[in-house]
Amino acid sequence: MPEVRAAARDVPASGIREIVNLVIGRPAGEVVRLEIGEPGFSTPEHIVAAGAAAAATARYAPSAGHLRLREALAARMDRVTGVAVPADRVVVGQGAVQVCEVTLSALVDPGDEVLVPDPAWPNYAMQVELLGGTVVPYPLRAAEGFVPDPDEVAALITPRTRVLILNSPSNPTGAVFPAEVVAALVARAAERGVVVLSDEVYDELIFEGDRADALRYDEDHVVAVHSFSKTYAMTGWRVGWAVAPAWLAPVLTKLQEPKISCIADPMAAGALAALEGPQDRIAETREAYRARRDLAVGLVRDAGLEVAVPGGAFYLMVPLAEGVDSRRAALDLVGEGVSVAPGTAFGTAAADHVRVSLASEEPDLKEGLRRLLAWHARTDGGARP
Ligand SMILES: Cc1ncc(COP(=O)(O)O)c(C=O)c1O
Repeated sequence: MPEVRAAARDVPASGIREIVNLVIGRPAGEVVRLEIGEPGFSTPEHIVAAGAAAAATARYAPSAGHLRLREALAARMDRVTGVAVPADRVVVGQGAVQVCEVTLSALVDPGDEVLVPDPAWPNYAMQVELLGGTVVPYPLRAAEGFVPDPDEVAALITPRTRVLILNSPSNPTGAVFPAEVVAALVARAAERGVVVLSDEVYDELIFEGDRADALRYDEDHVVAVHSFSKTYAMTGWRVGWAVAPAWLAPVLTKLQEPKISCIADPMAAGALAALEGPQDRIAETREAYRARRDLAVGLVRDAGLEVAVPGGAFYLMVPLAEGVDSRRAALDLVGEGVSVAPGTAFGTAAADHVRVSLASEEPDLKEGLRRLLAWHARTDGGARP
């Protein structure tokens, strides 16, 4: 039999998927689903209408996206982040996931090192490994509010380090890094010639804490990654964008051709409508998540557990007993009628935590947490069967 590439064979499957596959399709109510990061809100109607209208005339678009969309994105960067960028530094892709991948594939040779947060969204490590790069994890500790220590991160930089990945607000922790931490991390990377890939897809879901757009601190060393998915409830539309340094944007544009050619025209039309239409849903969504965050933190604290309060995004890390294998715990919890993502899916530093997604409606969130906390109390955080 022919064989697949070693990197394709060896890249681990997603640890979140394992739980999703167990619970998907079960009768409603049997298992409360708190394992996925899919917003329950529907895509606003004006966006859907624009996408549908564009379908009849859909054609190939320029590799980096239509100029009008890139100009609207550049204007949005200026409006929201205060950083003015020209449209020719904006590259549109199939969601932030594809934008991250094209960026890494422009920068990482086999054997190169990429600094990746631990815990982190698992796709970064998978992408680095598929390129033959080496993942060098840097720890985010619950005791420090899951905020990295710039000195500790800088000490991991070697002559082979090409990219430092930042993600604030963070999946899976919800941590929002203080501006001075982001500034220090960017400075330490830039002085060693390392590119910062700053994944800011949750930038409109900050409840408290500074906006800390990495681009503010160094435009030659930062690739800012953004998405329509979370801000506009457009996960299924698959539209994201990068703002890249002037020296890198043309390379990303060139690479989009063999990778995706371009994003689909109807999706681009929906994205443009999202930018040009009313923006009030963003604040409504943020307030809904804030309320869920407060509810969840309150319930977990009432149960006597200490949690790092997430300042953004829609996730909460719940601690198990020290050293407990969260994969085992997540499998047990399915039997208790609630599904959560195990900390092991995001690295090793939070292997004794589970991630609760706050994307579910309040009644589901309450019931799911009730089941989780009852199990937690009965088993001493998973320490006893
Ligand atoms: C940190 C982070 N980055 C990127 C993505 C993916 O975004 P997109 O839907 O734009 O590919 C996610 C999705 O969960 C995420 O959590």
